[in-house]
Amino acid sequence: MSGFRNNCSTPPTKKVNQVMRTFRKAGKAAAVAAIAALALTACGRTDTGTTGGSTGGGEAFPKDSSIGVALPQKTSENWVLAEKLFNDGLSEAGFKPDVQFANGGVSEQQNQISAMVTKGAKVLIVGAIDGSQLGSQLKQAKDSGATIIAYDRLLLNTENVDYYVAYDNFKVGELQGQALLDGLKEKKPDGPYNIELFAGSPDDANAKVFFDGAMSVLKPKIDDGTLKVLSGQTSFEQAVTQAWKGENAQRRADTLLAGSYGTASLDGVLSPNDLLARAILTSVKAAGKPVPVITGQDSEVESVKSILAGEQYSTINKDTRKLVEHAITMVKDLQAGKKLEINDDKSYNNGVKTVPAYLLEPVIVTAANVKTAYVDDPILGPITK
Ligand code: BGC
Repeated sequence: MSGFRNNCSTPPTKKVNQVMRTFRKAGKAAAVAAIAALALTACGRTDTGTTGGSTGGGEAFPKDSSIGVALPQKTSENWVLAEKLFNDGLSEAGFKPDVQFANGGVSEQQNQISAMVTKGAKVLIVGAIDGSQLGSQLKQAKDSGATIIAYDRLLLNTENVDYYVAYDNFKVGELQGQALLDGLKEKKPDGPYNIELFAGSPDDANAKVFFDGAMSVLKPKIDDGTLKVLSGQTSFEQAVTQAWKGENAQRRADTLLAGSYGTASLDGVLSPNDLLARAILTSVKAAGKPVPVITGQDSEVESVKSILAGEQYSTINKDTRKLVEHAITMVKDLQAGKKLEINDDKSYNNGVKTVPAYLLEPVIVTAANVKTAYVDDPILGPITK
């Protein structure tokens, strides 16, 4: 089920920022009152978090231990790349990698995690399909003495997660929202602009965070009439794309275009990732409409080419190599009994606790910087040269 329920729908610090923004016009007293109210909610707490399996001295477990990496479905290129990078990087460091995809869904992932624990994994790195459905497997892992690292997607509603390593998801959303506004202005200096909103899969804890980040930028412009959502579908629940499937986004785009854009132009689309952006563009083209300003994420090969060709407006560079590399550094530090490096201990509350996180900075990529953004990337570097 969907992550960050109720008051946890947005990381607390981000919420404070949003509240500040929302109340800026209403005056300081209103903002202070709203933040005080937020601080009373369970998810507004700023716990300091746990230190997990880090002992601060001496080897915590043998260097040739099994390390479990549970990946979700292959819904984007970053996951496929992560599989190889984890296998290579963990082997190089002397560990025994046990890397599994769960293409069959949640119960397959539950079984895989159980099997990793049974085989004696000392660290579990989990990219969950549904971050709230792994409670008993994570407890089993914790009871066995393993350290649990949530990878890319937060694990929800459980005590049994020690660390989180990810690109800052809320920031991803903010960058997407800003890129959409910038792209619209470039095409036509003044609004109003007609846009539609798409979100990711509701079982992925990231999807709502991406959407909330984008809406922190877009909602004020919807409220003041600069942006018009002709379908009227502005809530996360209305915008979701089950299982991050292109065909689902394409079908919804077909319906929206047929229902609300007879003669009207569709100027922009918030798309949460590249795969969905390409599916939405297919729908728009089939409807005979001009290509709108459309966002994305993941720097997928086809989308980077599309940016170079002047179609997709933006993507996000979240270099998978850096994310996997940091996850492996965490494993090495745990093995050596060292204290882990954490750079955020307040933003990612999972409904039960604030998970100590190492967050990497996502980078927006448009035609303006596509030629310089990937110079170090072995796949994208040659394409964008
Ligand atoms: C990842 C995105 C990806 C999506 C679909 C998310 O959790 O953060 O990079 O596009 O899953 O695979």
